[in-house]
Amino acid sequence: MVTSRLKRLVYLALTVTLLIAGCQSERSSLNPRGEGAQSIANLWMLMLLIGTIVYSQVVSVLIFALFRRREETDENAPPDKSPTSRNARLFILANGFAIPLAILTVVIVLNFFTLLELSPEAAPVDLTIDVIGHRYWWEVRYEDQQIVTANEIHIPTNARVRLRLTSEDVIHSFWVPALNGKADLIPGQTNQLILNTPNAGEYYGQCAELCGLQHAGMLLKVIAAPQSDFEAWVAEQQKPAITSEDGLIQRGEQIFLGAACVYCHQIRGTGASGVIGPDLTHIGSRTTLAAGVIPNNTANLAGWIVDPQSIKPGNLMPPMYLEGDDLQALVAYLQSLR
Ligand code: CUA
Repeated sequence: MVTSRLKRLVYLALTVTLLIAGCQSERSSLNPRGEGAQSIANLWMLMLLIGTIVYSQVVSVLIFALFRRREETDENAPPDKSPTSRNARLFILANGFAIPLAILTVVIVLNFFTLLELSPEAAPVDLTIDVIGHRYWWEVRYEDQQIVTANEIHIPTNARVRLRLTSEDVIHSFWVPALNGKADLIPGQTNQLILNTPNAGEYYGQCAELCGLQHAGMLLKVIAAPQSDFEAWVAEQQKPAITSEDGLIQRGEQIFLGAACVYCHQIRGTGASGVIGPDLTHIGSRTTLAAGVIPNNTANLAGWIVDPQSIKPGNLMPPMYLEGDDLQALVAYLQSLR
């Protein structure tokens, strides 16, 4: 008896610890690092506080009622008009109608103000980025800067960045919990979301709408850096792919241009102009592959080229059958595209 109670207590303590630990994770909306996420977290905390007070009140009344039985009444007696009965009706009117109405009105008004704060129209924007959802990766286009990249969104700190979100196939949902709430990417429609953070760093996000087999493997990263670092990144990304004197890299380029890769991928400055898969002009500068599923290193890149389906089953990249030497050259070429 005592041990089973102790066990239950330990389980409860563990659950609470895990829940609290979850709140501190870098993908938690309760650990806000940006303006939008902060507004949402403030509202959430307030609603949690109100909910806790209401819940404790209801439970107290319930416990009180459990111990205080109702008096026996005669069913044929005339309606009770005593002061006690009037008080009871007043109690029900206040607690069942007036107070809930007041609380819900306050919450709705606060929600309304939070939505206004989150609105893309709330203030002028400093930068606009188009994010297009694909199964299962994110196309990222900086129209004014003439940059196209994938899965890693670079933004300057202390700037209102507007994302214009749409989809190429099915409905996806953009969610970087530390920076803002969710917004759907819907084919044929453009939704907007503002990112604004004073804190430089990397923020992880993922697709939040079931979109197919690799929904959980549709990750993304927002990299926030001071304006000067961001501008340096832009300048690098604007350049076409580098040409190299290195024999291995040159051979890799020939293999790429002679293979089926060019039908799906673009590398600016070469003849490869496919638009089905991610732009690879600066693939070497990205930290992950396959929409955040694996780190971008030599072994992973080679594995991804020859057998992408075993790494991310259901993605649209077909396997490439290459000899060992050719694969080595191709990997060297792609890694040189920084
Ligand atoms: Cu895209 Cu889930």
